[in-house]
Amino acid sequence: MFFLRQKIGYFLVVIMLFVVLGACQPVPTEQSQSTTATPVAAQTPATTTSSIPVAYPDRALSASPAQLPKLPYDYNALEKAIDAETMKLHHDRHHATYVDNLNDALKKYPDLQKRSVESLLRNMEGLPEDIRTTVRNNGGGHLNHTIFWQIMAPNGGGQPTGEIATEINKTFGSFEGFRKQFNEAGSDRFGSGWVWLVRNPQDQLQITNTPNQDSPIMEGLYPIMGNDVWEHAYYLRYRNSRADYLNNWWNVVNWTEVNRRAQASLQQKT
Ligand SMILES: [Fe+2]
Repeated sequence: MFFLRQKIGYFLVVIMLFVVLGACQPVPTEQSQSTTATPVAAQTPATTTSSIPVAYPDRALSASPAQLPKLPYDYNALEKAIDAETMKLHHDRHHATYVDNLNDALKKYPDLQKRSVESLLRNMEGLPEDIRTTVRNNGGGHLNHTIFWQIMAPNGGGQPTGEIATEINKTFGSFEGFRKQFNEAGSDRFGSGWVWLVRNPQDQLQITNTPNQDSPIMEGLYPIMGNDVWEHAYYLRYRNSRADYLNNWWNVVNWTEVNRRAQASLQQKT
């Protein structure tokens, strides 16, 4: 009889333990019940800035699909600063590769293809993690080079003209002072990257540089003009002398286009 009471006692203790432990379980929340993660991109709508073009005067850079733009001049048109072979390789191979890689990355996310490259770059954190770096490098490469071809011209060079000349003098003291600072910023960029004249959110001109293919729009800056300081931009003619390339590049700057972009940047904040 004693052993029977003891067994019943143990049994009751076990039952009570189950009851107590069950009561201690956390109440599942709506979030923890979900087992299927929604892609980040699907949760993040295009922002209000997605319609503002930076690549062209009248349109943003399409990602559906991204396309290699035609050079607005012949390969040998910029010989004053850049040789034809470099131009061909730079445009047909390097820029083309950025376009192809961007399209490959976006294949998996058709919704993202509906957005402009500018919009994708301005909202990097909203992109799915598995393609974020690829879009940053190749979307940035596509946008940067699209701008680069336009702000050079066979009949470019010389002193700046128009409003940008006035603004450069006001901001940097003189064109020579501006050119010196710009070249220094290009030389200072360690490794590969770009040097830029940008408009900041306070409407001021500013010189900056970016690593790799990062675009100034990722930091809320509007790129007015930029020079590519990757070795692929100058190595065939200038070898390891980036400084010589930076100095000579001014012979092909398209001041008409730079002026247009400077004015556009006043109306179209990033
Ligand atoms: Fe390049």
